Amino acid sequence: MAKKSYKTVWFCSECGGESPKWEGRCPHCGQWNTLVEETVPAKGGAGTMPFSRKGSASSKGRVMKVSDIEVSDEPRLRMPSAELNRVLGGGLVPGSLVLVGGEPGIGKSTLVLQNILSIRSRKILYVSGEESPQQIKMRADRIGRPGDNCYLVTETSLENVFDHIRELEPGLVVIDSIQTIASSDLESSAGSVSQVRECAVRLLQYAKENNVPVFIIGHINKEGSIAGPKVLEHIVDAVLQFEGDSQHMYRLLRSIKNRFGSTSEIGIYEMCQRGLREVTDPSELLMNTVSQSLSGVSVGVTLEGMRSFLVEVQALVSTAAYGTPQRSVTGFDQRRMNMLLAVLEKRAGFKLASKDVFLNIAGGFKVNDPAMDLAVVCAILSSSLDMPIAQGVCMAGEIGLSGEIRSVSRLEQRISESEKLGMEAIILPKGNLKGVDISRFKIAVKEVSKVEEAFRILFTGR
Ligand code: TYD
Ligand code: MG
Repeated sequence: MAKKSYKTVWFCSECGGESPKWEGRCPHCGQWNTLVEETVPAKGGAGTMPFSRKGSASSKGRVMKVSDIEVSDEPRLRMPSAELNRVLGGGLVPGSLVLVGGEPGIGKSTLVLQNILSIRSRKILYVSGEESPQQIKMRADRIGRPGDNCYLVTETSLENVFDHIRELEPGLVVIDSIQTIASSDLESSAGSVSQVRECAVRLLQYAKENNVPVFIIGHINKEGSIAGPKVLEHIVDAVLQFEGDSQHMYRLLRSIKNRFGSTSEIGIYEMCQRGLREVTDPSELLMNTVSQSLSGVSVGVTLEGMRSFLVEVQALVSTAAYGTPQRSVTGFDQRRMNMLLAVLEKRAGFKLASKDVFLNIAGGFKVNDPAMDLAVVCAILSSSLDMPIAQGVCMAGEIGLSGEIRSVSRLEQRISESEKLGMEAIILPKGNLKGVDISRFKIAVKEVSKVEEAFRILFTGR
């Protein structure tokens, strides 16, 4: 009897869940319209494909006491970029699989290439499914690093990639990008859910068995998640997201998952003519913009990951030309701004309902620290009153629905960062300073418990 060796299944492009038939809504994650048809070998779906363990019986795990487990202190591989090391949690762990995600054109290939070109201690295989060796060489020349240990190959077949690896025996592998690599074991085309998943699993297995770290580059889709299934994020050891605005030069490298380090670290880079430059002092982003006191400008102390830095908030409030006032925000949550406007209207008595309000965070940054609330309302008010906020004043505080200013985290860090940048005064929530020794700071600390108090300090000088 002829045996049917392939079957058709539907995969959710959101969560990677498998369904035997098409449905409008994924039964696993509940998303609508995400199921895509794919052909997989009949015995076990792509995700259930067994690992190619040699002698599976002998490699059965052993039960051990935690205290008996010996940890070989294998050093992490230090990457040339200090920012990348920080985000990785202190270097690249041998045998780890790291996914670098980001929108097309944001600089993922540049980031990885720039790093591997300067590594001397081991051979590196860079597999590109997107660009020819000539294109990569041109980029390497632009970055201007030697790259004596870096080997390039243009390849889209996973099996051939493993052949190259066997030949070269590299100490680090880069796959650019996972969406262009396909295994011939599966019928579906490169970039499909089952291919992405299968390739990632096989690369993981290679990384763990040979203790070789692997970087996978992955594109993200319009919604901002890594194209291909969420399961890709479950397979890898670390997910680094490279984000930013391609119109702006600044890029943030954020760790959204890390089995070997903290996920609250960020790295900051600037895209220059000759590759990415590390921005070690993030507040420099602000320092070159504030030059004089202008109305509608305030300085907030925000926290991104473990680092605090100062950002400039710009607001423009004008009388609405049409019936419905416009509200436009870049770099801040629009709903949050609407809430802050309502608080100003209701609790502090400012009439903003018939005004157009435009808000912008300078430098192309997106902030989501609630401590930015105070700077946002102060910028809006400064523009509305057309009164500038004195230079050298910065602020941090979350605003509650009744107009109260609520405590923020890591106060000491925020104060010292402001002082380091030559700020003269900082406005902070009242009662937040418990246990903080402010006598060691030269900066003037003003505590406020309500929005009105902050306005009094800023616009009437008390
Ligand atoms: P790229 O790394 O190819 O992005 P990705 O791999 O994420 O798709 O590079 C993105 C952009 O960076 C590209 O438009 C050109 C620009 N770029 C520079 O501005 N300076 C440089 O030195 C390099 C190498 C690239
Ligand atoms: Mg690329």
